[in-house]
Amino acid sequence: MDDHLRRPQIVKMQARHIEEIAEIEKLSFSKPWSFEALAEELSNPLAVFLVAVIDGKTVGYAGMHHIIDEGYITNIAVHPDYRRRGIATALINELDNYARKKGLALLTLEVRCSNVVAIDIYRRAGFDEAGIRKGFYDEPKEDALIMTKYY
Ligand SMILES: CC(C)(COP(=O)(O)OP(=O)(O)OC[C@H]1O[C@@H](n2cnc3c(N)ncnc32)[C@H](O)[C@@H]1OP(=O)(O)O)[C@@H](O)C(=O)NCCC(=O)NCCS
Repeated sequence: MDDHLRRPQIVKMQARHIEEIAEIEKLSFSKPWSFEALAEELSNPLAVFLVAVIDGKTVGYAGMHHIIDEGYITNIAVHPDYRRRGIATALINELDNYARKKGLALLTLEVRCSNVVAIDIYRRAGFDEAGIRKGFYDEPKEDALIMTKYY
């Protein structure tokens, strides 16, 4: 079967995934996390990083910091060649399962106000608009929309 049509496996991030994640960061964001910044998350006890893998290739990932009973989603991206196949939705569902299992009070994230695709995906996953952080992003300068899901 064409590997584009396969369902991803969602697994915990390991060192072997980091090079491909750093590449997806570069393809997805104007200020990507570096290889080193991603590698540090492997030893961060607060970090919960999940990756989506198809036939051994890392095609997407979602990162979160679990602090007491709150989850702060730090980044979600899918390789451009693998978008529109439900991979981001699957990753968010896994974070949602984690939040329920661990009894978190909320999951929250920031997203560029212009990123209507991501905002829509989060809304459908049960996140509500919780506020604006003025001028939160650079390159280009833009406000962040805070979106939160309470449990
Ligand atoms: C946002 C992003 C993570 C979505 O990943 P994805 O795996 O393509 O998302 P999904 O396939 O789960 O999309 C679910 C639904 O969202 C909508 N959607 C997703 N991408 C869309 C697009 N480019 N245009 C319109 N609708 C879109 C669709 O309704 C889609 O369902 P459908 O394909 O059955 O119609 C991906 O586009 C990405 O990596 N973008 C760059 C990084 C980014 O913006 N990350 C979020 C920062 S907070």
